[in-house]
Amino acid sequence: MNNITAAITAVGAYVPDYVLTNKILETLVDTNDEWITSRTGIKERRILKDDTKGTSFLAIKAAQDLIAKANIDPLEIDMVIMATATPDMPVAASGVYVATEIGATNAFAYDLQAACSSFLYGMSTAAAYIQSGRYKKVLLIGADKMSSIVDYTDRTTCIIFGDGAGAALFEPNYEGLGLQDEYLRSDAVGRDFLKIDAGGSLHPASIQTVEEGRHNIKQDGKTVFKYAVTNMADASEMILKRNNLTNADVDWLVPHQANKRIIDATASRMNLEDSKVLMNIEKYGNTTSATLPLVLNDFENLFKKGDTIILAAFGGGFTWGSIYLKWAYDKK
Ligand code: UT7
Repeated sequence: MNNITAAITAVGAYVPDYVLTNKILETLVDTNDEWITSRTGIKERRILKDDTKGTSFLAIKAAQDLIAKANIDPLEIDMVIMATATPDMPVAASGVYVATEIGATNAFAYDLQAACSSFLYGMSTAAAYIQSGRYKKVLLIGADKMSSIVDYTDRTTCIIFGDGAGAALFEPNYEGLGLQDEYLRSDAVGRDFLKIDAGGSLHPASIQTVEEGRHNIKQDGKTVFKYAVTNMADASEMILKRNNLTNADVDWLVPHQANKRIIDATASRMNLEDSKVLMNIEKYGNTTSATLPLVLNDFENLFKKGDTIILAAFGGGFTWGSIYLKWAYDKK
């Protein structure tokens, strides 16, 4: 009988220094602090200003933070999964570069892309490898340099996104802690509502695609919002129901940080009090693949061994889901 569960045993994070406030955005587009705060909950976001650095820079820093905090030998890492929607380059996976740079030279690595659900899906992948017994240390990194694909003249996207990275180490657990259940879904109904149109095999880069601004992220915010509210709440309710959990059993909700109103709607469907709903959206905005590990890292001090945590995400594609996790350690 297979008694191995996959637990998170360490986390780390990195955000760049430059702070892009709502006030600064007021000078770039027709918007204001009051509108952004009330419609999204975001006050500021971090931006990687150095044009010579890509998402891998953020990912390496987050992984190094985890390695230092957990005091692990990178040579023991078996596998590196880099969840990202903004790889350094379309080909030559960023995860490979990151693994080599952090000294995880015994690991194999690749990228995983599911827009804002990348980290959630990555948790499923990391956990499956651990539960199979095949690997002992899987490093999952969620990182995005969203500023590289945001059009700073488009007020419907530039107010939302920020840059950042977070990392989580998955290891076998023999006490039944770690990932308990997952409910993951996708639906191509979302293909046209949130996308980067050009630069892939369908519409390769050309002078025309560049001139038409088709390499930037575009969304129909209202439609994405509607699907996000319904699906993130449905997925979270579903995972509670099928595990016979009530709101009282849940210690923490770790939701994707896209819009405070989406998070509030999910928490409300779960009947969760505000104190259990973890948010840092006001500081970082939507960092896409990095939101979940940034929350885990920021609130790591709150978590106790055995705590019941529900993670939930929704992103382009559409992709969405929720994960039921039992936290595996008390922070030293
Ligand atoms: O992680 C998954 C990825 N993305 C998301 O989850 C995002 C989901 N969507 C959203 O978060 C929201 O739809 C937005 C924050 C993008 C927009 O909020 P909204 O409440 O849906 O606004 P709206 O698009 O319905 O626009 C309301 C009004 C419009 O003006 P009119 O037509 O009512 O006169 C917009 O033109 O607000 C206007 N508006 C703005 N005003 C000031 C749109 N963006 C801005 C802005 N500042 N930045």
